[in-house]
Amino acid sequence: MTTALPRLTRLTFHGPLSEGRATAMVRRLAANHPRTVLDIGCGWAELLLRVLDAVPDATGTGVDLNGEDLARARRNAEERGLGRRVEFAEESAVGTRRGPADLVLCLGATQALSEAEPPTAEALRALRRLVTDEGRVLLGEGFWQRPPTDAELSGMWPGAAQDDHYDLGTLLDLAVGAGFRPEWTETASPREWEEFESGYQADLEVWLARNPDHPLAPETRARLDRHRAQWMSYRGVLGIAYLTLVPDTR
Ligand SMILES: C[S@@+](CC[C@H](N)C(=O)[O-])C[C@H]1O[C@@H](n2cnc3c(N)ncnc32)[C@H](O)[C@@H]1O
Repeated sequence: MTTALPRLTRLTFHGPLSEGRATAMVRRLAANHPRTVLDIGCGWAELLLRVLDAVPDATGTGVDLNGEDLARARRNAEERGLGRRVEFAEESAVGTRRGPADLVLCLGATQALSEAEPPTAEALRALRRLVTDEGRVLLGEGFWQRPPTDAELSGMWPGAAQDDHYDLGTLLDLAVGAGFRPEWTETASPREWEEFESGYQADLEVWLARNPDHPLAPETRARLDRHRAQWMSYRGVLGIAYLTLVPDTR
């Protein structure tokens, strides 16, 4: 018998994004009346579904490699009466031929558009090709809030390096260089990070506390401890910027 461990049920979004910020973003993006929405690395596509809910004649496409998250997206779409206006494709977005769309979402997922390291600059150029001239891109991308120390880097994800991310100013310059103007610039707050990181681990922490002798407990404990230590290394150092980008039609 296989044991299905709980997975990310405490998260509304797969990133540090509060209800308040998401509501304001959806309002801003919906005001531009997108007819088509493309969500790159959509996961369970919560923001895409909220935009479709706010723009009744829009249709959407979500692309992701994770079949389990796409199944959650399809279920949520059906439950909200959006199933006929959205399709989800289990495929890589690297070199995608989809689009152009009036609104392109790419939240925490530039690696879905480029295999470069870091993927940011190439992903921004791909986003410019994927969006219509009158459209918008919402990019959620990591940046260094300050330069990480060597000790902090050694505690982050395996192989973490200073050049994995840019500072916020450089990230904005890259967006401008790729053919955008920044309509709105915002960054996740410490509280959004804590909500996200807690929600990311909470399911499994509670399961582990209740099932300490389960055969999967040792590897689960190691995974949770490893991730918590990583978080403590990037906490306050790694930021997430949410950039609402307008194509520059010069
Ligand atoms: C941090 S999650 C963000 C999910 C979603 N955008 C959100 O904010 O809730 C990053 C997503 O990118 C997806 N991803 C990674 N590489 C990809 C690729 N090459 N093509 C499509 N999706 C990819 C992952 O499966 C994952 O769902």
